[in-house]
Amino acid sequence: MTMLDASTLAAQLRRPHGEAALAVGESMNRSNDGLNRAAISLLAVAPGEQVLEIGPGNAAFAPQLLQAPGSQYLGIELSAAMVDAGTQRLANAGLVDRAAMRLGDAHALPVDAACMDAALAVNTLYFWPNLAPVLDELARALRPGGRLCLAFGDAGFMRSLPFAADFQLHDLDAVELALRAAGFDVSAWRSHRESAIGNDGQSREKHFHLLLAHRR
Ligand SMILES: C[S@@+](CC[C@H](N)C(=O)[O-])C[C@H]1O[C@@H](n2cnc3c(N)ncnc32)[C@H](O)[C@@H]1O
Repeated sequence: MTMLDASTLAAQLRRPHGEAALAVGESMNRSNDGLNRAAISLLAVAPGEQVLEIGPGNAAFAPQLLQAPGSQYLGIELSAAMVDAGTQRLANAGLVDRAAMRLGDAHALPVDAACMDAALAVNTLYFWPNLAPVLDELARALRPGGRLCLAFGDAGFMRSLPFAADFQLHDLDAVELALRAAGFDVSAWRSHRESAIGNDGQSREKHFHLLLAHRR
């Protein structure tokens, strides 16, 4: 991908669009591979479960999420370009009968109440100015006992990223508090560290948190 300046990259990560969208989607897959694998492992989808992913980009990790037999996937994306790319990718993977992408916003999920068993959001919290409205929506979409995995950059690490200057950063304890207020019990925390090339092409030590929570 041609190197984008910090503000252009930030806008693309917020909602991939235009000519750069497909390349940005592929770059996110490379950059976020390890974190997505860790989140999928923590969420541990069981056979037959309905899984919701918020902000999946081009749905590159859906096949790994869907390893349990009979599980089903819905990806909700703000970016029309990512909905198209993800739909194509799911078709290429032979998953159209078990997985779909839909254009939508985490603040108003286009799904029925209590229809999901598990939900995942990796590297999307930065685009939610307030956590409460989105967590309330996720609590509505999940059945009682349903699981939510949030994976996000440590605020200190994120402040070192030039392209994240206008991202909304959330401290770990603030996310835990917001989860509790929205009706979740936090059941696990993992720290994820890796040395890797970021979306801006720079190699750095990366530090993320993963939280697993159960809807009360
Ligand atoms: C930084 S990318 C992360 C993509 C992917 N989860 C990953 O880990 O590689 C953030 C994605 O979330 C989507 N997004 C941002 N805000 C959203 C919202 N309110 N509702 C749904 N999707 C959103 C963007 O369009 C973008 O594709």
